[in-house]
Amino acid sequence: MVEVLVLYYSRTGRTEALARAVAEGVETLEGASAKVKRVDYATVNDFISCDAVAFGSPNYFSYMAGLMKDFFDRALTIRERVSGKPGAAFTSGGGSSNSALLSLEKMIASFRLEKVADGVVSQGETGEESLKVCKQLGEALAKRALERAEVPKD
Ligand SMILES: Cc1cc2nc3c(=O)[nH]c(=O)nc-3n(C[C@H](O)[C@H](O)[C@H](O)COP(=O)(O)O)c2cc1C
Repeated sequence: MVEVLVLYYSRTGRTEALARAVAEGVETLEGASAKVKRVDYATVNDFISCDAVAFGSPNYFSYMAGLMKDFFDRALTIRERVSGKPGAAFTSGGGSSNSALLSLEKMIASFRLEKVADGVVSQGETGEESLKVCKQLGEALAKRALERAEVPKD
C-alpha cells in the first residue's frame, strides 16, 4: 500500500475541499491511500513517511499561507530524506493569480521532489472543474507512487 500525503492549509474551506478531491483521486487507485492533514497538525515525519505528497494552500498576499511556509522551514533538515518523492500542488485564491502556486512549486523544486502533475489554481468559490482537476492530480500522484513502489530498492 502506498500513502499519499495531502498537506494543506485552509481558513474558509475552499482549499480543504480541493484537498478532499485530491484524496478522492488517490483512492481511486487500488493499493493507494490518502492521508489528509491540515499543515498545523502535521509533522515533518508525515513528510518522511509518505510515498508522494500534494501541497495545497490559499493565496495569501501572492504567496502560500504562512503556516505552509513554516512547515517547509521546519522540514529543511530532512530534505535529503524526501528527495525524489512525487509531488504536486494546488491553490485557491480570490483572483486568478498563480503566484501562490509558483511559491509551492518552488518548494517542490527546492526539496527535489518529482513534479508529476500541473498545479491547480482555483479562483473564488471552489467549482466542479477545480475539483475534477484536483482529483486527476491525486490520481497522477498515486499512479507514480505505485510505479516507484514496484522498483526494488537496494
Ligand atoms: C490574509 C489574506 C490574504 C489574501 N491574499 C490574496 C491574494 O494575494 N491573492 C488572491 O487571489 N487572494 C487572496 N486572498 C483570498 C484567499 O486566497 C481566498 O479567499 C481563498 O480562496 C481562501 O481559501 P480557503 O477557503 O481555503 O481559506 C487572501 C485572503 C486572506 C485572508
